[in-house]
Amino acid sequence: MTQPLQGHVAMISGASRGIGRAVAVDLARAGADLTLLARSEEALEETAALCREEGSRVLALITDVTDRTQLERAVSKTLGELGGLNILVNNAGIHATGKAQSADIEAFERVIDVNVKALMNLSRLALPHILAAQGHRAVIHIASVVSRMSFGGGGAYCASKHAVLGYSNSMFEDVREAGVKVCAIQPGFVATDMVAGHGLKMDKMIQPQDIAKTVRFVATYPETGCPVEIIVRPQRSPY
Ligand SMILES: NC(=O)c1ccc[n+]([C@@H]2O[C@H](COP(=O)([O-])OP(=O)(O)OC[C@H]3O[C@@H](n4cnc5c(N)ncnc54)[C@H](OP(=O)(O)O)[C@@H]3O)[C@@H](O)[C@H]2O)c1
Repeated sequence: MTQPLQGHVAMISGASRGIGRAVAVDLARAGADLTLLARSEEALEETAALCREEGSRVLALITDVTDRTQLERAVSKTLGELGGLNILVNNAGIHATGKAQSADIEAFERVIDVNVKALMNLSRLALPHILAAQGHRAVIHIASVVSRMSFGGGGAYCASKHAVLGYSNSMFEDVREAGVKVCAIQPGFVATDMVAGHGLKMDKMIQPQDIAKTVRFVATYPETGCPVEIIVRPQRSPY
């Protein structure tokens, strides 16, 4: 049977571990060729090897998403070596804590740089090529349940994920008539390094492969509809 994303190219930021790795492996299983971006070389190569085992052609590019020149190189290498771009998964993200009155200003700025500015820059560079592609086309943002609510001591992270939701819904209006899907997936706790070590029950959290399934669902959704927002909460409380 033909795989749903055979002949399609997907780019995933933050593919070295966690949600990004699970998304990469699942899209590889669906038949896509992949460009994988992250800074950790060894871990990124591990993800690439898992995807190649599924039969994908994979470009693993050591990339800091906050560096616009590196993003430009990632897009142009993808076009040159994989022949196009259909799907972008904006997943790279960081978390920082700190109260509004005492937070480390540089840590707060870094969160906005990675979670918001880099995501917008990569989308801007990738979208013209996604618009020009045939077949399934999508930009999928990994936002968060804190795109719609906030918690104390996490102002930069909450602000960044609110921004991602606003940007995602605006982008949908920009490209909807061209048939490109745009979705902000908003998970609660997902069992990854980002939330490990805080005494929460990792086995009760959403698993990274659950989010991967959600990404595939959006990317392969029928032509006439677009799931623009998907909120995923852990079935059972991890507290
Ligand atoms: N885990 C959760 O509970 C949860 C819930 C809702 C939303 N999310 C969101 O899901 C996304 C993935 O998070 P995760 O839980 O999988 O976290 P994770 O395990 O910490 O992975 C984060 C990924 O982002 C990459 N990254 C960070 N800064 C980067 C940079 N400057 N340039 C390139 N890549 C960078 C990391 O790669 P390198 O370090 O190798 O560069 C890594 O691959 C994030 O946007 C996060 O906010 C997570």
